[in-house]
Amino acid sequence: MSNPKRSKIIAGNWKMHKNRGEAKALAEAIAKGVKGEKDLPIVVLFPPFTAVSTVGDVVKDTSVNLGAQNMDHHDSGAFTGEVSPPMLLDVGVEYVLIGHSERRQFFGETNASVNLKLKAALKHGLKPVVCVGESLDERENNLTDAVVRRQVGAALADLEVTDLKTLVVAYEPVWAIGTGKTCEATEANRVCALIRATINDVFRSEESAPVGDSIPILYGGSVKPSTIDEQLEQSDLDGALVGGASLTADEFLPLIKSAQKRIQALVKV
Ligand code: 13P
Repeated sequence: MSNPKRSKIIAGNWKMHKNRGEAKALAEAIAKGVKGEKDLPIVVLFPPFTAVSTVGDVVKDTSVNLGAQNMDHHDSGAFTGEVSPPMLLDVGVEYVLIGHSERRQFFGETNASVNLKLKAALKHGLKPVVCVGESLDERENNLTDAVVRRQVGAALADLEVTDLKTLVVAYEPVWAIGTGKTCEATEANRVCALIRATINDVFRSEESAPVGDSIPILYGGSVKPSTIDEQLEQSDLDGALVGGASLTADEFLPLIKSAQKRIQALVKV
């Protein structure tokens, strides 16, 4: 039974898809689909940079939140091709993905740069969604736990407990992303619990409740309407970071509805 106190989140990472017109239409359909609904999860859309402003205009004054897929950790400067935290805030961005596996795989993102970006996001009041997860090779060599622990520990280096109020972590096993191969719900839950325990180990304190217990941990990797219910039933999994199935309202809205039902069930208990 997932802790009802933790926020439930359904987030759509549109990756490098959607021009402005397409992004506007999709954001409108999602905003319309959740309008007037109660007990919603936090819904966040992560459009490509060129459509962030357009989507921001659509979701302003709705229950849908705006995110960006990446950022640089500097405030400004000679960093061609990069976008800074103040620039994201300027266009109304509230959430930012940090360390997505595609950034790690193809664009040289490292545990060290993830840590710098996380600190910068927190400094500027952006809500970070830090992504971690093992590759197929690492899983096959029984390195999943070690890799995930290392990624989480490195991301959180030099932070204080009080910095973590807005932190969200996403467990995205690389082998499950865009492959149609979903990680089994119970296994995803085991790794989410490991992430939570790792956070608690990093910030162990005798006085306060374990901080990891209040941090939402999402699962990502081929999440679909047919997989979400079992995923949301897991004790340590608080939502989903969705790629492919976030690209149409027909697939994304049912994920939000499933989370809404789950929230309503948790309230009743
Ligand atoms: P898919 O849902 O397409 O597997 O992508 C997951 C993901 O990478 C979300 O960030």
